[in-house]
Amino acid sequence: MHLRAFRRSDLDTLYEIDQACFPPGVSYGKGELAGFIAGRGSRTWIAEEGGQIVGFLIADRAGLRAAHIVTIDVRAEYRRRGVGRILMDAAEEWAREQKVEVIYLETAEDNLVAQRFYQTRGYTKVEKVEGYYANSRAAWVMAKSLKAGG
Ligand SMILES: CC(C)(COP(=O)(O)OP(=O)(O)OC[C@H]1O[C@@H](n2cnc3c(N)ncnc32)[C@H](O)[C@@H]1OP(=O)(O)O)[C@@H](O)C(=O)NCCC(=O)NCCS
Repeated sequence: MHLRAFRRSDLDTLYEIDQACFPPGVSYGKGELAGFIAGRGSRTWIAEEGGQIVGFLIADRAGLRAAHIVTIDVRAEYRRRGVGRILMDAAEEWAREQKVEVIYLETAEDNLVAQRFYQTRGYTKVEKVEGYYANSRAAWVMAKSLKAGG
């Protein structure tokens, strides 16, 4: 498994993976994904194994002080093999290079696997946002300090 940069030809596959990873109302439309990837200050990592995309992560900047994980998606059959960890390591390294103080994300209130995944990496719940998703589901905002010693 290795990481590489996004190519325009990846978009259909990323959309397919996102649709499989999330329920309707939480998953993104293809145009939304393309918009996030093309956004100013945004960065996308592709995890590839044997020529197949097995996961991806999109991050962006949120002002001067924060980086934001837009989404992290790993194909179900490749989970619990460290793909998510490697994608998050890359995003956090990028965020540290940007000299931001904090990295944060939103995750569905009922996505206990993702909450566990982030907690093992030092993220804590900072705020619950009711009706965050299009399906009106609530989200937890989870954040991790990137300050020295944080
Ligand atoms: C959350 C997600 C990205 C994790 O990816 P992954 O490649 O399976 O994660 P890793 O194998 O790197 O796991 C790292 C650690 O996170 C924790 N973790 C991951 N999945 C877990 C699970 N199902 N149950 C409990 N802990 C889990 C474990 O501590 C794990 O380490 P270990 O396997 O040595 O015990 C993946 O489950 C996924 O794509 N889910 C669907 C999409 C999603 O929910 N994305 C997050 C949205 S905010």
